Amino acid sequence: MTDKELIEKLKVGGIVSIRDYLLEQQAKGLKIARTESGDPSFAIPDNVKKAMNKALAENKTHYTAGAGVAELREAIYQRATQYNRLHLNSFSNVIITNGAMNALFAVFHAVVDNKGYKILVPTPTWTETAINVSEVGGTPVYYTFNPFSDTPIDLNELEKLVQADSDIKAIVVNSPHNPTGKALSLDNLKALIAFSQVHNLYLISDEAYEQVIFDGMKHVSSASLSDYDKIVTIFSFSKSYAMSGIRLGAICTTNQFILKKVAKIVRCTINGVSSVTQWGGVSAILDTPQDYFDTNLAEYTVRRNAIYEGALQAEHLIPVKPEGTFYLWCKIKDSWRPDITVDRGWYMTLEYLKLGVGSAPGEVFGPGGTNHIRFSFSCSTEDVKLAAGLLKELKSNILNA
Ligand SMILES: Cc1ncc(COP(=O)(O)O)c(C=O)c1O
Repeated sequence: MTDKELIEKLKVGGIVSIRDYLLEQQAKGLKIARTESGDPSFAIPDNVKKAMNKALAENKTHYTAGAGVAELREAIYQRATQYNRLHLNSFSNVIITNGAMNALFAVFHAVVDNKGYKILVPTPTWTETAINVSEVGGTPVYYTFNPFSDTPIDLNELEKLVQADSDIKAIVVNSPHNPTGKALSLDNLKALIAFSQVHNLYLISDEAYEQVIFDGMKHVSSASLSDYDKIVTIFSFSKSYAMSGIRLGAICTTNQFILKKVAKIVRCTINGVSSVTQWGGVSAILDTPQDYFDTNLAEYTVRRNAIYEGALQAEHLIPVKPEGTFYLWCKIKDSWRPDITVDRGWYMTLEYLKLGVGSAPGEVFGPGGTNHIRFSFSCSTEDVKLAAGLLKELKSNILNA
């Protein structure tokens, strides 16, 4: 199979097909650094394991209230108001979901409201954000998120998009941002909130990476800066507590329309999150020692530094220094394979694969990903260091195209 044929085959399934292909290659004995996808390598906190086992032993295995067990909603409410400084009224402003993915689906469903409304989505974006908008019958309208700028979101561009289309009802913001690792500045975030309010848009703030943020920076939640009623905050337990396979997330908002709609959508799709998972979530919030976060963040920092340094030494990459998340985003220089004009991210991904380095082509993250490539540093430190050392080995030779 030629590289072109292989790329056409892998393109259909995006990152998942890259992962499957890597697994296949690994099974054949090829040593590959698993820097293609983002799943924390760490174990979940011991207290969460114990709480889940206890819930099982105590037969807490029955249906729970659709919006979640009261203890978990209360724990999230307390954390969200005290730690994130959200403006919420009570635990009735919190709905438990099957991860942030399910939360996004439910909120988009509520906003689109069977009327085919449109939602502003950053590009590049975590792929599933845009897919979820389409899956609920809406249309994603892309706005530029430029991680090479200190003001990644350009309000003038947003203004033009909104002026041109009265069907736009919401805007998604994700900071720290997957796939670029950029965290929004306070000024940019404040301007975005003011913009949403002026145009009466929902501001859907995906804060899945709130706790993976480097160099002493502190995550700022959108809803801590304003009591604008149309801000909807989405949290995830996947990154903060490495609970990616356990599936837990939450929606926080004071907006009654969203709360009512989302409660119904969650009830009619998943009929509540697994009870055992929810009791694990209570312990995650109440009992996880600070040391758990500090240790993980220190390890992510080692990985971030290693892969960023590796990319700086690579002749054909211009990296963004990750401020948060566990992703390194790089622009592909024009100097690399000028004979390739389309799918440059895909071709580079394939070349890195041949060197034993996993990556995700920028194209899978929407139009803003063209000519970029993403490396993840959520896998083991050993793998990240291996990848970091190999980044500079990429040559500009002609492929088997
Ligand atoms: C930006 C962003 N939002 C949401 C999610 C989904 O998180 P969860 O595992 O809680 O569904 C991810 C997962 O990678 C993500 O990158």
